[in-house]
Amino acid sequence: MRNGKRNIALIVAAGRGERSGGDVPKQFRKVAGKSLIRYVVEAFSSHARIDDVILVIAEGQGDDVKAALGDMPVPTCVIGGATRQASVRAGLNHIAATGGAAKVLIHDAARPFLPHDVIERLLDALEHSTGAIPVLPVVDTLAHGETILGDSVDRTGIVRVQTPQAFDFKAILTAHQTWNEGLDASDDAQIARAAGHDVILVGGDVMLEKLTYPADFILAEQRLADQYSIRTGMGYDVHRLVADVPLWLGGVHIPHDKGLSGHSDADVALHALTDAIFGALAEGDIGSHFPPSDPQWRGAASVIFLEHARDRVAARGGRIIHVDLTIICEAPKIGPHRDAMQIRIAEVLRIAPDRVGVKATTTERLGFTGRGEGIAAQAIATLALPGLF
Ligand code: CTP
Ligand code: MG
Repeated sequence: MRNGKRNIALIVAAGRGERSGGDVPKQFRKVAGKSLIRYVVEAFSSHARIDDVILVIAEGQGDDVKAALGDMPVPTCVIGGATRQASVRAGLNHIAATGGAAKVLIHDAARPFLPHDVIERLLDALEHSTGAIPVLPVVDTLAHGETILGDSVDRTGIVRVQTPQAFDFKAILTAHQTWNEGLDASDDAQIARAAGHDVILVGGDVMLEKLTYPADFILAEQRLADQYSIRTGMGYDVHRLVADVPLWLGGVHIPHDKGLSGHSDADVALHALTDAIFGALAEGDIGSHFPPSDPQWRGAASVIFLEHARDRVAARGGRIIHVDLTIICEAPKIGPHRDAMQIRIAEVLRIAPDRVGVKATTTERLGFTGRGEGIAAQAIATLALPGLF
């Protein structure tokens, strides 16, 4: 797609965060283990309708951005200005100089928790308007006053304005370029309106509140503690059946005339489960964590692999909600061992047995499993991981 057809997210993160205190500008501070800037970049880059992300940062902050994003790719960074307005303008000029865009969503890094449906509502609204912004109703009474209460203000038709603010790119670029730079604008919608463009209101979200003061960080931490996203992963594995080796399946030793061959104890069921968990974490697979070329895993009990996957979930602050396993073989019969496997897997994963499904099927004597040449296993894992996405 040519640049001019793209939807670009422009994140302004060049402020100093003076009101929030802290040792570093607030966009680099962490909430629930993740920097604000990373939440925002993730929210945009994981949205199917956003083609590119541009970050506006202050001079000399390239390394801070890299550290704050961790293992994420660093988006294009542009150096901002002395005010938010100047930073937005620098970002828009950069986009214009590098091929333009169809639509741009201008967003504060200081609003890190950006639900996908807000992006969706904004882009939908832009189908029939030049600008669209998210707003929330005002619930508190509004009044004039410094030390003594003055008149209250009629709340009818008053809204609280959030970001991202979405615009037709050319319209907002021109609006910024023609805006009197001496005048302060606290958001971009004002600049668009001054240039004569309509700005439509869509529903905002309480999660999008800006983090401005120290107390906002405490509140954000508490809110996030209750936010989990559900992830699902799948795993599949096959091992060959050979004579005269012990058969380990689902963490249980099963008396049988054949066993599975492989580098470890070849417990195909635990391998599929381990991969399902790594899949839900998006952390590679069993081979990348335990390379078959590494001699230390020769003959290893596969329970070790499953324990490692379990520990990775814990390290990410997550929980295993449920796993489900299907073992595919003609023999041995799995039924008599099903309960033992369920209990063993639950024990290893430190979850209740009613969160572990163990099933088996034959393939009606068809294929390699039907001929008894090997055993296959499929698994699925459901995790709850902290965070909005
Ligand atoms: N911002 C910017 N360039 C500036 C000033 C602000 O890119 N010169 C960005 C901030 O990084 C923030 C957003 O604009 O993401 C909203 O501004 P604000 O909440 O005021 O952040 P700060 O200016 O960093 O904080 P403070 O005003 O407390 O210093
Ligand atoms: Mg500011």
